[in-house]
Amino acid sequence: MTIASQHDSPSYNYAVVRQFTLMTLFWGVLGMGMGVFIAAQLVWPQLNFDLPWTSFGRIRPIHTNLVIFAFGGGALFATSFYVVQRTCNVRLISDGLAKFVFWGWQATIVAMLVSYPLGITTSKEYAEMEWPLALWVTVIWLVYAYLFFGTIARRRVRHIYVGNWFYGAFIVVTGMVHVINHLAVPVTLLKSYPIYSGATDAMIQWWYGHSVVGFILSVGFLGMMYYFVPKQAGRPIYSYRLSIVHFWAIITLYIWAGPHHLHYTALPDWAQSLGMAMSLVLLAPSWGGMINGMMTLSGAWHKLRTDPILRFLVVSLAFYGMSTFEGPMMAIKTVNSLSHYTDWTIGHVHAGALGWVAMISIGTLYHMIPRLYGREQMHSVGLINAHFWLATIGTVLYIAAMWVNGITQGLMWRAVNADGTLTYSFVEALQASHPGYIVRLIGGGTFAFGMLLMAWNTWRTVRAAGSEPLPHSLATA
Ligand code: HEM
Ligand code: HEM
Repeated sequence: MTIASQHDSPSYNYAVVRQFTLMTLFWGVLGMGMGVFIAAQLVWPQLNFDLPWTSFGRIRPIHTNLVIFAFGGGALFATSFYVVQRTCNVRLISDGLAKFVFWGWQATIVAMLVSYPLGITTSKEYAEMEWPLALWVTVIWLVYAYLFFGTIARRRVRHIYVGNWFYGAFIVVTGMVHVINHLAVPVTLLKSYPIYSGATDAMIQWWYGHSVVGFILSVGFLGMMYYFVPKQAGRPIYSYRLSIVHFWAIITLYIWAGPHHLHYTALPDWAQSLGMAMSLVLLAPSWGGMINGMMTLSGAWHKLRTDPILRFLVVSLAFYGMSTFEGPMMAIKTVNSLSHYTDWTIGHVHAGALGWVAMISIGTLYHMIPRLYGREQMHSVGLINAHFWLATIGTVLYIAAMWVNGITQGLMWRAVNADGTLTYSFVEALQASHPGYIVRLIGGGTFAFGMLLMAWNTWRTVRAAGSEPLPHSLATA
């Protein structure tokens, strides 16, 4: 939709979308900055400064929570509110509740930033928040669900666009696994113990952990893909039928794959094998989505020569395809016996996190920002292009370094001499990993530098908008 035709639209609530968009960028820069910092700690351990709250172990969850929940989550809040209003042709059902979700979410992130370095955590990965914060997040999530589904219920078009199905599944399943994994007995205001124990606790945790990967980092961003790829390419989605099959297949399969995080543990063997089988099957719907997105460019491939935003979106799909091929392979028990505990996992994570999640979010934000601020385009298209290359080169350096490290570590750890003793000590494997850590730091630093260019470009775009009156529909939003 052009800026001019927005005058004819119902007045949407773009205020909350603008707020989430800017904060997504802010947290993205900070979260990736933290990533660069912990990557540097792995090169120069002196950067731990011998203080508990600056140690790798405490800063790492700050990185993961900032990039997943503040950056990734922010991008999903911003785009889901944008997409649901535009595809339902109706304003969000409540401005007050939208404000509550925005400020509530920012308060959550600040609480994480304060509590984790102090050591106030459950120590469950991606579920570190102690019980009062977990309760607070449940409230925000319920309000978010009410806003999103309430807006769909009031829609002025009969059809519910497929992107909303993906966002809807992300909201429902994330809420469900958050509540179940956080069930705990509080012993003090800041300490609780999970109601589960032993292998059950581990299973529930990784059922949650994999659902975060599946429903936040995959299904949520697929919702984004289904709206913004066709918009930016100026083409309808390649196959609407495939998008429906893709939706039902992916949501049916994802919640069964969690046990692949617990191969060769105390988890019953049948559960591990089930997780492996479900992970292998997951390749099909994942690639269905990737192909559907890619093929949307049929007849529009030439646009890639001149449109760096489209490049971000298409390359993100390529990385999505790559990481969802790699994931099922790593879920095979024999492959996992090599990859588990090594940097290969970290490489896989960032092929998905940088290549897919961050790249699609960046492309989408570049698409949305000018529209939100009544501009024809971003302040500098040249800077978007520079950002694209920095992000792509940064991602490739990061993941290639981690593949080399991961396979080296796996092979060195399992090497045995004729008499059965280990060929290499752990420290020798660590020394062999050092060059890879330097390359990862360079790759991560390159990616993070691109984010700074984006922040500058956005600042200039927003400032230019501030100096001119906004179109009526935006001004009243
Ligand atoms: C078909 C899709 C996928 C499958 C079957 C899959 C499978 C796997 C496997 C087997 C592991 C290693 C578990 C271990 O040894 O501990 C893993 C780790 C991980 N994957 Fe994937 N993956 C898929 C897609 C993705 C995508 C798209 C992302 C997006 C960012 C992602 C993010 C992660 C994360 C964050 C971890 C690390 C979890 C942790 O140990 O903290 N995966 N995945
Ligand atoms: C500038 C970019 C980034 C850098 C330099 C970076 C660096 C790092 C480092 C050094 C670790 C710890 C690895 C270890 O424990 O050995 C890590 C973990 C992790 N990062 Fe990043 N990161 C970046 C961006 C991102 C983004 C954008 C996301 C998600 C959207 C992300 C998600 C994660 C996750 C989920 C883990 C935990 C992986 C696991 O436990 O297996 N990172 N990152």
